Amino acid sequence: MRTIRTQLTVWYAVALLGTVLVFGVTLALVQRGANYRELERRLTAEADLAAAYIQQATQLGGPLIEYSSDPELALLRLEVADNLDRIQDYVIVVDSAARGLYGSAEVRRLTPAASDLLRQRVFAIAQEHESFSLSLDRVGLRFVERRITGAGPAIIAVAVGTPTREVDVSPMRLATSMLVVLPFILLAALAIGWVLSSWALRPVGDMIDELEAITDGRSLHRRLPVPSAGRPDELGRLANTLNAMMARLEASFASLRRFIADASHELKTPLTVMRAGVERALTDPRTGPEALGPLDETLGEVRRMTELVDALLTLARVDEGRLELHTEPADLVALVAEVWETGQMLGEEAGLTVLLEQPDGPVVAEVDGGRIRQLLMNLVSNAVKYTPAGGTVWLSLTATPETATVSVRDTGIGIAPGDVGRVFDRFWRADSARSRTGERPGIGLGLSIGKWIAEAHGGSLAVTSRPGRGSTFTVSIPRVRAPHPAVIES
Ligand SMILES: Nc1ncnc2c1ncn2[C@@H]1O[C@H](COP(=O)(O)OP(=O)(O)O)[C@@H](O)[C@H]1O
Ligand SMILES: [Mg+2]
Repeated sequence: MRTIRTQLTVWYAVALLGTVLVFGVTLALVQRGANYRELERRLTAEADLAAAYIQQATQLGGPLIEYSSDPELALLRLEVADNLDRIQDYVIVVDSAARGLYGSAEVRRLTPAASDLLRQRVFAIAQEHESFSLSLDRVGLRFVERRITGAGPAIIAVAVGTPTREVDVSPMRLATSMLVVLPFILLAALAIGWVLSSWALRPVGDMIDELEAITDGRSLHRRLPVPSAGRPDELGRLANTLNAMMARLEASFASLRRFIADASHELKTPLTVMRAGVERALTDPRTGPEALGPLDETLGEVRRMTELVDALLTLARVDEGRLELHTEPADLVALVAEVWETGQMLGEEAGLTVLLEQPDGPVVAEVDGGRIRQLLMNLVSNAVKYTPAGGTVWLSLTATPETATVSVRDTGIGIAPGDVGRVFDRFWRADSARSRTGERPGIGLGLSIGKWIAEAHGGSLAVTSRPGRGSTFTVSIPRVRAPHPAVIES
């Protein structure tokens, strides 16, 4: 999952691990340097001591070197050698002929090749005070050499050395122990990183949840809570920005709705006047027969426009949340029968049979009678409109103690499966390409208003259809009305 949370956690762990590693390596290097300096100091002290022994012995008099029969085998006087033996390290004394005059126990334990190498090395730099590293018999050693003056020309240098293994090993040990704790540090870093990023990102998650709840133009009045409102941090600023954006959206949505409502409202009066005028002209005996055709057409258009303006006004009020239901107990049996009677008249004109099925007794429900009539009228007129002559339309009412269900079934042209979901969309018509005034006039707002009416009652409007076979629209309405959010909001 590539969330910011996991990314932050991983980066945190990597950063912490890197820091620990750099810290560990630095620590190891520093410790190694300190160890070496300490070693050098000890060796220097010992070398100075050894040189002092030899010089002291010289001042006490007597020959320092004892020669045996073999001129190659010159040795340091015994008491001097005894003194040097006290130094618990590699100690070697060479003379001006590169012979080893003295070697401590460690030096004597070396292989001949190694001890030769050491002797040559000490001799080679006998003129200087110097320290050097040398690997003898695979043991890394550090030596400090001292030139000896005032002990006669024969003795020239003493070197004291010690293995560097200890010095090198302790930083290694540090590194190893760090490797052991590294997985634990990694785990701790991941856990801490996860907790920290969760803590830091929780406000973002909350904000996303809040924003997701704002799904349509009607929930735009909601605002995000601003984290740390007093001195806003980045998230606070984000919330403020989003809130400002929603305020602007809300304002423009509202002015759009206002505009539609105002425009529809302003159109109502002129339309009523026009309608009355045309109707009067139609019934006026002075109107010539040649004018009757155009006047009739005009009346039709004016009626259509009145219908459109009414529908627009209704939807604008729905959107504004200003449209309320005026519910009271009403007998649905009587209401449906009324709709059926009008439907029968429409059906007669279109050559259809319109049938009614409903219970004998009354079905009382808490509804807005006018709105329910509007909804059912649209369903019935649709059924008549979209059913060819000779077909049948059934209007049926059934009821349970909780729900009343009205269904309008026809044997009409049906709705293509891909379009079933769109019939409730505003202005959607299956044959909008054809004339809006042709054989099936309409504006495509009836079902969207109908759906609102059903839902505002706490019910639903649904459709099933098979192309060429017919459609069934079903309205379900609870008989005792529970408050509906669309109405509470207003
Ligand atoms: N009974 C039906 N049979 C077939 N199609 C229908 C039926 N009822 C509605 N429709 C389709 O749904 C569209 C929208 O219906 P509606 O909102 O009432 O608008 P209008 O009746 O003004 O066309 C219609 O144009 C039509 O294509
Ligand atoms: Mg309609």
